[in-house]
Amino acid sequence: MEFVTYEQKDKVGIITINREKALNALNSQVLDELGEAFDAVDPDATRCLILTGAGEKSFVAGADIGEMSTLSKAEGEAFGKKGNDLFRKIETFPIPVIAAVNGFALGGGCEISMSCDIRICSDNAMFGQPEVGLGITPGFGGTQRLARMVSPGYAKQMIYTARNIKADEAYRIGLVNAVYSATVDEAGNVTVSAKDNLMAAAEKMAAGIAAQAPIAVRNCKKAINEGLEVNMDEAVVIEEKLFGDCFETEDQRAGMGNFLKKKDDPTKVKVVDFQNR
Ligand code: CAA
Repeated sequence: MEFVTYEQKDKVGIITINREKALNALNSQVLDELGEAFDAVDPDATRCLILTGAGEKSFVAGADIGEMSTLSKAEGEAFGKKGNDLFRKIETFPIPVIAAVNGFALGGGCEISMSCDIRICSDNAMFGQPEVGLGITPGFGGTQRLARMVSPGYAKQMIYTARNIKADEAYRIGLVNAVYSATVDEAGNVTVSAKDNLMAAAEKMAAGIAAQAPIAVRNCKKAINEGLEVNMDEAVVIEEKLFGDCFETEDQRAGMGNFLKKKDDPTKVKVVDFQNR
């Protein structure tokens, strides 16, 4: 693949959008390659994914404006569908996906981060939906996910004004869970960049998720996502089914067995090696 790389670190997979010269903007080829990268992930061997952008400056600076500039109405709609199909694939991917947002997350960049389960960012991150300034609406889910993720009023303000927000404001409104800065020594020299601290935190979080019972983690993702789409009466039934689905698995026996063993004899505490069964 030309614009997407994949790295496996134990049970964690790292997908990097690598089109740095165009600030990792999403053209059709990048969208296709991202789809292929997700399709190639083995969700049994890999228990959590991290999605990031190459370089320190930009996660994704949006959909490719050059490519969009000559589209007809029908082509524009088809391009929107191409992005939406990919982002739904990410959102409903069986294992969790963490967006490690390093710099600009504008337009399609903000939108792809919102299709991930969790967003964390470096302190130079900038989020926004600047599309109305380009004469279009957000087209890869921004009008829908932003309004669901932050308050509808705040989403409307961001979208109607096309004003980008910095990392601290994204944190304040709940768009990201954490913001990472560079490590600086006493003389004021940067010893670890914000991007490196961000990636270390993303990998630590992903490894923490990967260590949990995998069937249970997957069922949690499904229960949360599908439950948010329906009323509470239907939502709790979704949870009941996915809760029941965990029983009689080896992971449930190992997880509960470990707890009960600990109660008898605290020296028996051990890390459970969940087997995905
Ligand atoms: N599409 C295509 N190319 C892009 C791009 C984009 N979205 N964003 C940046 N680039 C390219 C620039 O054209 C430039 O290429 P050249 O060197 O060949 O000229 C290169 O990346 C570097 O960009 P800048 O020189 O502009 O860098 P900067 O530091 O001065 O500015 C920026 C950075 C503020 C992010 C600016 O590039 C920018 O505003 N980009 C566009 C952001 C945007 O509007 N995104 C939304 C796109 S619409 C969308 O996403 C629709 C949707 O919902 C599906």
